[in-house]
Amino acid sequence: EKGGYPHFMLKEIFEQPRSILDSMRGRLVAENTQLTMSSIREYATRFKNADRIIIVACGTSWHAGLVAEYMIEEFARIPVEVEYASEFRYRNPVIREGDIVVAISQSGETADTLAALELAKSKGALIFGVCNVVGSSIARATDAGAYTHAGPEIGVASTKAFTAQVTVLSLIAMMLAEMRGTMETSALRQMMMEMEQIPAKVEKALQLDKEIQAISEIFKDATNFIYLGRGFNFPVALEGALKLKEISYIHAEGYPAAEMKHGPIALIDENMPVVVIATKDSSYEKIVSNVQEVRARKGRVIAIVTEGDTVIPQMAEFVIEVPAAHEALMPLISVIPLQLLSYHIAVMRGCNVDQPRNLAKSVTVE
Ligand code: F6R
Repeated sequence: EKGGYPHFMLKEIFEQPRSILDSMRGRLVAENTQLTMSSIREYATRFKNADRIIIVACGTSWHAGLVAEYMIEEFARIPVEVEYASEFRYRNPVIREGDIVVAISQSGETADTLAALELAKSKGALIFGVCNVVGSSIARATDAGAYTHAGPEIGVASTKAFTAQVTVLSLIAMMLAEMRGTMETSALRQMMMEMEQIPAKVEKALQLDKEIQAISEIFKDATNFIYLGRGFNFPVALEGALKLKEISYIHAEGYPAAEMKHGPIALIDENMPVVVIATKDSSYEKIVSNVQEVRARKGRVIAIVTEGDTVIPQMAEFVIEVPAAHEALMPLISVIPLQLLSYHIAVMRGCNVDQPRNLAKSVTVE
């Protein structure tokens, strides 16, 4: 059942070129700039006129929601808020009829997410679901939705479900841009072509496995980790830190790189591994300065960079090169080495990666 892999998690990490393709299948034909998602078309008027999109989710799904916030605001110019379902439901949130609430959940059973969407529904918002498990409670409670089609995810730590969520959400962002006329057709087509190339690029990123295993060996006994990213890679920093803590039990924190100087920089010394996602994008120059700040305090930098980068390799102790992609789609690629890093570190520490302590695959209690 593990397909020759020692753990479900590793199998699921390696399934991603395929599962991402499955999430796009029948929905994207870049050649003729065609996007199909009947559930969005069905509510075209509501989406076109949406005043605001509120995303509710927990954990890794909440991180996918953050990526979606950046994409939807950039492409479709609709204001987006991303909420922890557990906070949203209990704070008497302002919900209007022109709002669309998007609930993201792999299992479709997360109690807080379900309750948050029920609340929004009672206030008249349109509820859209992005779930992996077909026929799950959340999928059934929504007005409409799009399944992620990642296939069953057995490992407790979410990997392929995350990339499938980001894939579906990026298609939604593109569809909204098309419907609202906020993106030129040529730019949209370009974006769709970029999307089609993602599975092959993820495949390439997976080939870094041995290299990442060697880096994991060096850092397996660390007691803390910091993950930094900016822009579209900021949610990836959060996700990388979450993956590490949940399966290896090493304390890790993800931060927007610029926020570091407002506190966490005090933690940096020669014992602190700092994973920086520093791919070539609109915030590249800024993140180069952030790497310098870490180096100046002797932090041990492990940088995820774009292939061919010549600047960061001179500053970082370890460099992991990933294929170039449009910055909005980079999370689909930059998260791969972070999944592998946490996997290998956890295995080396003798942890049960598929069933980490204190965690369950679906959190059906609040
Ligand atoms: C992280 C993880 C959890 C879930 C969270 C939400 O690897 O598995 O943080 O992402 O419990 O679960 P779903 O997506 O099923 O609502």
